[in-house]
Amino acid sequence: MSKSYTVIVAGMGKRGLHHATFFKANPRFELIGISSRDPVRLTSALSKLGSVPASSDTRSFALSANPDLFCFCTPPNVRLEMLRLGVECGAKLIAFEKPMALTSAELFAMRDLIRQAGVKAVVSHQHRYGVHYRKAKEIIAGGGLGRVHSVYGTATGWMTHLLSHLIDYTCWFNNYGTATWVMAQAAGRAKFTDNHPSPDYIGGFVQFANGVRGIYECGAGAPDQPEVAKWWGKNRIGAQGTEGFAEVLTNGGWRAVTKSGGYQSGEGAMNYELDMPPYIQEMADWLDDNTKVHPCNFDHSYTGAEIMLALQRSAAEGGQVALPLTAGADEQAMLRLKVPDRPVLVSFEQNKMEFGLG
Ligand SMILES: NC(=O)c1ccc[n+]([C@@H]2O[C@H](COP(=O)([O-])OP(=O)(O)OC[C@H]3O[C@@H](n4cnc5c(N)ncnc54)[C@H](O)[C@@H]3O)[C@@H](O)[C@H]2O)c1
Repeated sequence: MSKSYTVIVAGMGKRGLHHATFFKANPRFELIGISSRDPVRLTSALSKLGSVPASSDTRSFALSANPDLFCFCTPPNVRLEMLRLGVECGAKLIAFEKPMALTSAELFAMRDLIRQAGVKAVVSHQHRYGVHYRKAKEIIAGGGLGRVHSVYGTATGWMTHLLSHLIDYTCWFNNYGTATWVMAQAAGRAKFTDNHPSPDYIGGFVQFANGVRGIYECGAGAPDQPEVAKWWGKNRIGAQGTEGFAEVLTNGGWRAVTKSGGYQSGEGAMNYELDMPPYIQEMADWLDDNTKVHPCNFDHSYTGAEIMLALQRSAAEGGQVALPLTAGADEQAMLRLKVPDRPVLVSFEQNKMEFGLG
């Protein structure tokens, strides 16, 4: 019987409960505690999880439990302090949610902490386990598109919710190659007050060192995907090459045209019940064996996070921004200062409602 790893999950909102549920269901993990500063959420989580030690004092709970794995699922403005706690409590692996950080200053501090501590870390870009995402990747990696020259991602959901997903999966399609510069624009201020603070619309370009061009749009101005009913699933992520293209719609399957295969398509929709188990299992695999690096590892996500923050800097400052970023900054403050005070122009009617425009 293989060793099981002890886990604490902090933050008991939607994603914290998902994580706790799937750690509990996996025999390679022992869920030794859940924590939330909100007693109502804690009670509600316990009613679903059954008997699990629980506390509203995450810090003392984690320090006394000394788990193998510390997982936190908190809003985007709570990252560095939780990562520090994960290191302090002696965890071998720290798992947390996207987006990695709201500012490059915080992202750099997180990177330095992880490197100094030598701890493993995993970021929840788990959509990639969907059968449609894997099919698109298989076609791209198998050479079916010829020479890949472009990757792209669009989503009508706003930046701090979805841009991290778009960039991570396109970086996966591009084998996590490094980027050399970005350029972007942003519009609309309604979502700066959201708990996923964002300009209402951001669009930009990325130059990757291997010559591939990245093209991203996120928010109210991004195009509708009429094939998809679920608003949060109207995300189109793909790659184009000299001999075809392959893409996924988060809630609408995959499709491709390749020189040898013609037009092909298939089913697939983002589904936590299907995507979380392999995401969790691969944490045990990495803990077992250092060579089985988790595909959602910190370095992979860092590639995308740096691009995402550079796009924001470009939108705020104008012009191109070179990568890698060398000094930390507060991109949220930069955007708030510079995004014009004019309502965003939407791409289709439903976005008006989602962005509070009537
Ligand atoms: N990977 C995905 O598919 C996916 C899907 C949805 C959300 N997310 C991400 O997951 C994260 C959490 O989202 P959610 O929907 O579960 O949020 P939520 O609001 O439902 O839950 C957040 C939890 O964090 C706790 N919390 C808030 N502030 C805290 C603080 N200062 N210290 C400690 N705990 C605090 C809250 O009490 C709550 O228990 C976000 O970063 C979000 O972007 C990821």
